[in-house]
Amino acid sequence: MKVMVTGGAGFIGSHVVDLLTQFGHETLVVDNLLSGKREFVSPKARFFEVDITSPQITKVFEVEKPDVVIHLAAQVDVAHSIKDPVGDAHQNILGTIRLLECCHRFNVKKFIFSSSCAVYGEKDDCSIKETFPIQPQSFYGISKYTSELYIQIFNTLHNIPFTILRYANVYGPRQTSKGEGGVISIFFKNVLNGETSFIFGDGEQTRDFVYVKDVALANVLSIENGTNEIFNIGCNSKTSINELYQIITSLASINIPSHPMPARKGDIRYSRLDPTKAANLLGWNPVYDLQAGLDETLKFYKGS
Ligand SMILES: NC(=O)c1ccc[n+]([C@@H]2O[C@H](COP(=O)([O-])OP(=O)(O)OC[C@H]3O[C@@H](n4cnc5c(N)ncnc54)[C@H](O)[C@@H]3O)[C@@H](O)[C@H]2O)c1
Repeated sequence: MKVMVTGGAGFIGSHVVDLLTQFGHETLVVDNLLSGKREFVSPKARFFEVDITSPQITKVFEVEKPDVVIHLAAQVDVAHSIKDPVGDAHQNILGTIRLLECCHRFNVKKFIFSSSCAVYGEKDDCSIKETFPIQPQSFYGISKYTSELYIQIFNTLHNIPFTILRYANVYGPRQTSKGEGGVISIFFKNVLNGETSFIFGDGEQTRDFVYVKDVALANVLSIENGTNEIFNIGCNSKTSINELYQIITSLASINIPSHPMPARKGDIRYSRLDPTKAANLLGWNPVYDLQAGLDETLKFYKGS
């Protein structure tokens, strides 16, 4: 298959590209290098430095005619979406619409979208299923959910098959401090540099951390499976930010106390995704538990 990966120079996208090339797919990367890095892109993939919101993207579709588009390119910073809702909507909503128009025009056979647990918003401390009410609490959550709706209506009107993946907090090698799961990369960088880490609120907010290689696998499985479905991609696990900091300092064998900060606007208290549907219909189960994923991540940050 010829697969286009938007955002393929980014944290998650570059792992998706690595796996696609391992599976023998012809892989094209489209990225404007806003937060991505050229050196993350596998030499086995072809790279196009193009912005998905620009008219140039049409040319790439016209020349390359991909079979599948895996769309990860986005403004990924929740706090930034609150400061700049117009910029967030431009990248995340208009960027997605432009890609969908290209998919329609050039007969793409599958559109796979990276959505987020941010679409669910604040919930009780429970395991969230795909059928739970949508109540985003940030403009980022709104822009992800709006994109989901465009994808579904493009499917209804123009028959573009899709799979939507709603990720929990993703972590692993190559992560920057900006994304949703960025707390792990921030803690590792601070701890290894002997710097203080800040914990917002009481630190008892919990997250469901999912390892980036598992997320890459969910994308690759979606090429053949889970058509016109929405899936949670998480581990159904619950780790508080205080616990996480303890685990990271003990893994790195460095003891630096964290520093409390006021809670941030738009941060949700509990987030835990039930991935049963992905197990049943995509054949996806996370391979890495938190310990195994953090071990690999620590090796990356130590450069070994
Ligand atoms: N990291 C997480 O925990 C998490 C959780 C839920 C959903 N997601 C989603 O997964 C996707 C990938 O996120 P990530 O964490 O790898 O972030 P990232 O910032 O590392 O990757 C995004 C990539 O998109 C590129 N990009 C941004 N705007 C672009 C544009 N207009 N045109 C072309 N390229 C553009 C960036 O340069 C970057 O390489 C995003 O859609 C994000 O919303 C991430």
